[in-house]
Amino acid sequence: MKVCCIGAGYVGGPTCAVMALKCPDIVITLVDKSVERIAQWNSDKLPIYEPGLDEVVKKCRNVNLFFSTDIETAIKEADLIFISVNTPTKVSGNGKGRAADLKYVESAARMIAEIAQSNKIVVEKSTVPVRAAESIMHILRANQKPGIHYDILSNPEFLAEGTAINDLLNADRVLIGGEETTEGHEAVAKLSWIYEHWIPKQHILTTNTWSSELSKLAANAFLAQRISSINSLSAVCEATGADVSEVARAVGLDSRIGSKFLQASVGFGGSCFQKDILNLIYICENLNLPEVATYWQQVIDMNDYQKRRFSQKIIESLFNTVSDKRIAILGFAFKKNTGDTRETAAITVCQTLLEEGAKLDIYDPKVEPEQIIDDLTHPSVTESPENVKKAVQIHSDPYSAVRATHALVICTEWDEFVDLDFQRIYQSMMKPAYIFDGRKILDHERLHQIGFHVQTIGKKY
Ligand code: NAD
Ligand code: UGA
Repeated sequence: MKVCCIGAGYVGGPTCAVMALKCPDIVITLVDKSVERIAQWNSDKLPIYEPGLDEVVKKCRNVNLFFSTDIETAIKEADLIFISVNTPTKVSGNGKGRAADLKYVESAARMIAEIAQSNKIVVEKSTVPVRAAESIMHILRANQKPGIHYDILSNPEFLAEGTAINDLLNADRVLIGGEETTEGHEAVAKLSWIYEHWIPKQHILTTNTWSSELSKLAANAFLAQRISSINSLSAVCEATGADVSEVARAVGLDSRIGSKFLQASVGFGGSCFQKDILNLIYICENLNLPEVATYWQQVIDMNDYQKRRFSQKIIESLFNTVSDKRIAILGFAFKKNTGDTRETAAITVCQTLLEEGAKLDIYDPKVEPEQIIDDLTHPSVTESPENVKKAVQIHSDPYSAVRATHALVICTEWDEFVDLDFQRIYQSMMKPAYIFDGRKILDHERLHQIGFHVQTIGKKY
């Protein structure tokens, strides 16, 4: 079998790499319109940082895994094509700020329709609104050449960044949605056969296409909802003296609730939670279900509140002014073990502090300096990029970032921050020295003993 995957990003890359590793009898070609991205996939420095990914790519690249910009040949030769392109929130037009922009999915479908000369199974791997497969089907079948048959499947991806390889190798479940026809069932069986190379059959779930599409949005909405729920309680804890970690533990021990995804934080980030919930909200509004839309909107509103609340706490603690104060930001990625900064809470924290006139010293072990500057000078973040560039310094070492600062803010839970020499850090900082732990990873008692003023999420000090 020959497989092609359109879109060599955070999903396409790791997914195809693991598939190639586990299916030596399948040839997989990952294509992208970005020449730069494909060149990086073919180089020693891959375009994304993901633990374990380098090893898998090295094993399979140019054996049964190929990275190419020759989209035409890859489509022509493939029996099965994954569409794994980005589906960002629309920034203009109908549904602006809410609906998923399907222009990349549509262009992939149009390319397939134009190029295909034999039967294809087209698999929607991107996260899409319910019934998006219908649009793909419509485009393909309206342009169908005689004798060519298309099957469309939905096969959403559930991997999380930072743990993608393990998530793919040991998936809780693989979800495949297809048409309730004989051809549809055959197509589902072919895709299932690929996953059966390493996923136990009982973990491969088949549903109708629309259930599969909606389940992906639902899963992300549920996960984000748990974070917003615990974050909402973190505010109650700070006001009352309860400790949110103790509350999360007590609540999570109920086996009906479970302990995962109850870590209170500065707020969730990442390219998908907000985008997918907005997409769900837009669908509900269009289906004339305003109560359902309002319900899910609260998950996002609570996240915005949490990010704002944490930023305000920093300013208030520093005598209500951070003007010309140096503040160290440790961690810029939206979570540990990734270099991805999309929707990271660090952007909101930095933006607020910059607006108040602070000078920022930023360190992240995996985010490229240019990426941090791009994010903080984006038109949605500032009207004066030149001033931001003057106020921000990027460091390649945490000790240099904290030197002579008034405060240290933890925005990402990188393991290396736990083991920093805080005695040394204290000595190099301005006094009084403040730590704002937005991830609850540090030993606060010890920091107090050293002399720091400590503030965190969900606990009153
Ligand atoms: P990404 O932006 O990292 O990658 C998408 C790639 O598609 C880009 O490299 C882009 O150049 C390419 N592309 C777009 N249109 C193309 C076209 N017509 N032809 C060829 N290449 C094209 O996006 P991602 O993070 O990999 O996400 C992809 C999809 O998977 C999204 O729908 C997302 O919601 C979903 N998803 C993402 C994650 C995640 O952890 N990032 C997890 C699960 C699902
Ligand atoms: C999330 C889901 O976990 C994946 O299943 C899904 O496939 C993916 O979105 C997607 O569709 O893109 P991801 O965003 O990569 O994965 O990472 P998560 O581990 O879910 O973390 C998201 C954000 O929530 C991060 O900012 C993280 O720090 C935060 N978080 C997570 C918390 O604040 N508390 C928690 O308890 C868990």
